[in-house]
Amino acid sequence: MDIKHILICGGGMMGKNIAFVFASNPDYRIGVYDLYQTDVYAGIRTNTRQLVDHGVMTDDDVEERLSRIAFTTDLDSELVSKADLVIEAVFEDMDIKRDTFAKLEARCRPDTIFCTNSSVMSPSEISRDLKHRERFVGTHFWNPGHLIPLVEVVKSDASSDEVAQTVMDVLASVGKEPVLCKKDVPGFIANRMQHALWREAISIVERGIADAETVDKAVKYAFGLRLPQLGPITNSDMVGTQLTYNIHDYILKDLEDSHEPSPLLKQMLDEGKLGFKSGEGFMKWTPEQIAKENADLNEYLIRMLYGK
Ligand SMILES: NC(=O)c1ccc[n+]([C@@H]2O[C@H](COP(=O)([O-])OP(=O)(O)OC[C@H]3O[C@@H](n4cnc5c(N)ncnc54)[C@H](O)[C@@H]3O)[C@@H](O)[C@H]2O)c1
Repeated sequence: MDIKHILICGGGMMGKNIAFVFASNPDYRIGVYDLYQTDVYAGIRTNTRQLVDHGVMTDDDVEERLSRIAFTTDLDSELVSKADLVIEAVFEDMDIKRDTFAKLEARCRPDTIFCTNSSVMSPSEISRDLKHRERFVGTHFWNPGHLIPLVEVVKSDASSDEVAQTVMDVLASVGKEPVLCKKDVPGFIANRMQHALWREAISIVERGIADAETVDKAVKYAFGLRLPQLGPITNSDMVGTQLTYNIHDYILKDLEDSHEPSPLLKQMLDEGKLGFKSGEGFMKWTPEQIAKENADLNEYLIRMLYGK
């Protein structure tokens, strides 16, 4: 299927960055639809400021991309009816998402590809009431969507292989690294691994094995350094499957395997320790430290991805 017109439904934090990503390909025309009048152009200029400051692109490059993006609050706009592919990035609410796709289905062609950017919700459940469920997949972009290359393409219980492949191809055409999640499972691929790590990290603090700062240090200065180059499966082959087996045979019985969130997390919530939001979580945070952590993350990503 030839994709030219792409609609981003929901022009919030993720939607703006996703629109910017697709606008990198001059073959695409991007529409952004939102319930509310919002200045997506100003938002994109702000979000991409660091890319310009680091010389990854110029102001003119950003403006050229913005010229391919049109915005509407009108669901009956041509931006909706002409769409070949829709990425939904509205609020993370099952009813709102289902209602949004029902409205889109009434206005788009029967073969328009529908994608949801939900972080955790099942594409099978979101698409449950649609007539043409085969044209629906999850496309899980990671935040910040204009920087992180991975997009998980998640098949629902009804997605066709052809639609999943088309979406993978379109994502690759704008420089993303799409991966196919063949089963609709909670956490898809990457968040399952990420939260297995977080569960153990929190458990180490809870059991008094190490304090919070030490846990982060142990990641940052050891396997965290290797991870962008050496994934866990290649690493397992590198050390050998026999060693992997022996280590798991010895250690797995002691690792955290709780099916509930940690009691320590619950206690912190009860005490109002909400992390950056309240200035204290596992650690204490001043406003300056919070601003620095946020800025350092984007700086690091730009250095890693673009060498700038
Ligand atoms: N924020 C993240 O880190 C992140 C990461 C990956 C995926 N996601 C997912 O992306 C989606 C969007 O998240 P976000 O952080 O951009 O949220 P957001 O609140 O910043 O933006 C949502 C936008 O959707 C609009 N909207 C709400 N209901 C609508 C409707 N019925 N029709 C049209 N527009 C509507 C809102 O006006 C808003 O502009 C969610 O499903 C979220 O789980 C978020």
